[in-house]
Amino acid sequence: MATLSQSCLNLLFISAAMLAVIFSNSQAQDQSELSLDYYSKTCPTAESIVKTEMTCAVQNDPRNAAAILRLHFHDCFVQGCDGSVLLDDTYSLQGEKEASQNANSLIGFDIVDKIKNQLESECPGVVSCADLLAIAARDAVLLVGGPYWDVPVGRKDSTTASFSAADTDLPAVDHGLVTLISKFLAKGLSVTDMVALVGAHTIGKARCASFRDRIYGDFEITSGMELTSETYLSSLQSTCPRSGGDENTSPMDNITPNLFDNNFYRILLHGEGLLNSDQELYSSWLGFETASLVQKYALDPIAFFNQFSESMVKMGNITNPAGGEVRNNCRFVNS
Ligand code: HEM
Ligand SMILES: *[C@@H]1O[C@H](CO)[C@@H](O)[C@H](O)[C@H]1NC(C)=O
Repeated sequence: MATLSQSCLNLLFISAAMLAVIFSNSQAQDQSELSLDYYSKTCPTAESIVKTEMTCAVQNDPRNAAAILRLHFHDCFVQGCDGSVLLDDTYSLQGEKEASQNANSLIGFDIVDKIKNQLESECPGVVSCADLLAIAARDAVLLVGGPYWDVPVGRKDSTTASFSAADTDLPAVDHGLVTLISKFLAKGLSVTDMVALVGAHTIGKARCASFRDRIYGDFEITSGMELTSETYLSSLQSTCPRSGGDENTSPMDNITPNLFDNNFYRILLHGEGLLNSDQELYSSWLGFETASLVQKYALDPIAFFNQFSESMVKMGNITNPAGGEVRNNCRFVNS
């Protein structure tokens, strides 16, 4: 515990700019191919640095695990996993942070900054922000009880962002099943990948603005008006009134909100999914395949963990063909 709390107290801010130009990266391999040993010579401690910082962050607040996992997803779905989601708006660059699925919703950028500062102090100019997110997302899942998987690395950070792609490519809560499936297929992810990846909603919270339509809509129908469901529904409605309280939050897995497990799917079987898009997987008229996958993962946590790990590697493999750089500061492109 001594070393852990010591590292948790390590709030040293190391200016990325100071370390910027010192190191020139001489990786001359195919940028599109990720590998497990990409940093084994240039930054062998990369993984342990990320792990230490994530351990602190999740100990401080388990919500931080959800924050980082979602950032990686929103990164990979827009231009590929290239750190584009992390870019701040500047006078010359419009970032993705104010896009409809991200605004007032994405959190965890401060944690990314902190991890990046540690990486830069140990291996300046080497580890990309996109790789940082991919590793941190894996650690996040593991730290709250989820599966471990090896994270292929070697991503480059983009020098651009796409506000418009963030609006069009990210799935939204009011999408029907067919649209949801097509958004994943467009990224090379299958129906199976989608159902497993949405299982990420076993941790984290949604804002009232994201689930209001659902709890004043078909929640009662999908949950069959069971007594326990009615009780849950009225507590959701007191958190989220018909008007106002947009920023009030509720966990998507209300049984074990801070544990990465398969309860999310069991909630869907009861028709009590918090998000409309979540319940679609089980209750849509068109959802034969998705419903049977929901059933499978609800019954078999190991099957869920295995598929989730595999699908995370697949999602993390979406690359930006434009290539890029290793950003010194995850919020800004190198000047
Ligand atoms: C069908 C596709 C998906 C839709 C429509 C969707 C939508 C949403 C929405 C609306 C929220 C709540 C945001 C808010 O109210 O501020 C949310 C939270 C979250 N999503 Fe998704 N999501 C999807 C897939 C995924 C995937 C594939 C992952 C990761 C692999 C993921 C990870 C998360 C996490 C961890 C949170 C909680 C974040 C927090 O607590 O801050 N989601 N999602
Ligand atoms: C990752 O993408 C490359 C092509 O860029 C492909 O050859 C490889 O099979 C993919 N790996 C996974 C696990 O999807």
